[in-house]
Amino acid sequence: MRPNAEKSILLEIKDLYAGIESREILKGFNLTIREGETHALMGPNGSGKSTLANVLCGHPRAQVKSGSIIFRGENLVKLSPEERAKHGLFMAFQYPVEVTGVSLFNFLKTAYGSVKEKIDYARFGKMVRDEAEKLKMDPAFLSRYLNEGFSGGEKKKAEILQMMVLSPKIVIMDETDSGLDIDALRIVSEEINRARESFNPGILLITHYFRILKYVRPDFVHVLVDGRIAAEGGAELATKLEENGYEWVRG
Ligand SMILES: Nc1ncnc2c1ncn2[C@@H]1O[C@H](COP(=O)(O)OP(=O)(O)OP(=O)(O)O)[C@@H](O)[C@H]1O
Ligand SMILES: [Mg+2]
Repeated sequence: MRPNAEKSILLEIKDLYAGIESREILKGFNLTIREGETHALMGPNGSGKSTLANVLCGHPRAQVKSGSIIFRGENLVKLSPEERAKHGLFMAFQYPVEVTGVSLFNFLKTAYGSVKEKIDYARFGKMVRDEAEKLKMDPAFLSRYLNEGFSGGEKKKAEILQMMVLSPKIVIMDETDSGLDIDALRIVSEEINRARESFNPGILLITHYFRILKYVRPDFVHVLVDGRIAAEGGAELATKLEENGYEWVRG
């Protein structure tokens, strides 16, 4: 683990109890992310990882019961999903939605205009095409409707394209690596590492697989079991989980 005490705190979650509607799923969850840190969040199916992501991005059915979430000095819970995005929060979804009638390019342009600034069409077009090329995405994807008919891996790449274009302060990636083939995983990992170098975001990488963590080395690894952190450590914890599974963490 790198010593990071001097870096500013981007996200501080304290003793969070939250869930979906009346069902309590997170039960005393704590996490602090400082600028430039990459945190991997692992844990068995159903332990609450996506629920945490949904709470953070402001899913309409997500409910916070108690505890606090401070995002860059603001009470996150009081911010609307749009305000959270403007404040620098980006979420790459486990299951990206398909939106008929809105092209990927227009979606990106609208998002950029709302989160960042108005930008000249030609300049924005070049920026997006350059990013798509780095991700080895055919530019034809830009004129297709958002995610409609995209394969699983193509949807995940489109999420990374959005992240690169929007350069957020905090990135939450919910299983962005799931469904990527070996080459796509490497390309996506390289883009995440490029993001780390260019705009230095805090990253919460939710994953089941050790393989992405070989490319995107986390500073911290946390294991969520039944809504609480059951173990945490540095990158070596992911290796231990790969070898031993979750049984020893469940206790
Ligand atoms: N809308 C809902 N209604 C009822 N239960 C829900 C709802 N959403 C989530 N849950 C439950 O909350 C628990 C946590 O779900 P969550 O999606 O957060 O798990 P996860 O850790 O992301 O799992 P996975 O690794 O499979 O993606 C699960 O038991 C799930 O069934
Ligand atoms: Mg999930």
